[in-house]
Amino acid sequence: MLTRRDFYRFLSIAGGNAIALALAVPGVRYLLDPLTKKGQTGSFRTLTRLSQLEPGKPQAFPIIEARQDAWVKYPKEPVGSVWLIRQPGDKPVVLAFSGECPHLGCAVGLSADQKSFFCPCHTSSFGFDGSMQNKVPPRGMDHLQVEFTKEADPQVQVMFERFQTQSTERKPLV
Ligand code: FES
Repeated sequence: MLTRRDFYRFLSIAGGNAIALALAVPGVRYLLDPLTKKGQTGSFRTLTRLSQLEPGKPQAFPIIEARQDAWVKYPKEPVGSVWLIRQPGDKPVVLAFSGECPHLGCAVGLSADQKSFFCPCHTSSFGFDGSMQNKVPPRGMDHLQVEFTKEADPQVQVMFERFQTQSTERKPLV
C-alpha cells in the first residue's frame, strides 16, 4: 500500500526526471546539430564543359566538397549529385536536376531501359524533363539553375541546392 509520504516522494522524483529530460533534449540537439548538416549548398559549381555533354543523354555529376563543423574538418566527400541533360539544337541549353529524390532523399538513377529517371528506394519515376511519371513522389525532380562561362566551349555551372523531401512544394533546405 502506498503511503502519502511514498506518493509525494514518487511525485518529486518523477517531476525531477521530467525537468532534467526537458533540459537535456535541446542541449543534445545543439551538440549534434553540426553533425547533421550535409555541407554547403546554394553556390555555383563547375561540373563540365558543354562539349562533354551528348545532346539528349542524361549524365550524372557528383558534388564533392570538404566539410567543416564546430569541431572537425572532414576530408572531401560526395554531398550530392546533379543530373545534366543537354538539349538538342544549336543553342546551348542544359537542364539540371538535383539527384536527390523528392520522396525521401535517395539517389535518383536511370530506369532499366534508360528512358526515364528512376529511384530504386520506392519506385519514383520521372521524365527527362523532371516531371513525375507516377504518384510515388510528392513533386517532380528539383530543377537547378544553370549558367555558362563566356568561352567557345563554355563551362557548365550549376547552382547546387538541396530541398526538403516529402513536400509538394520546392522548399530549399536552410
Ligand atoms: S526516396 Fe525515392 S522513391 Fe522514395
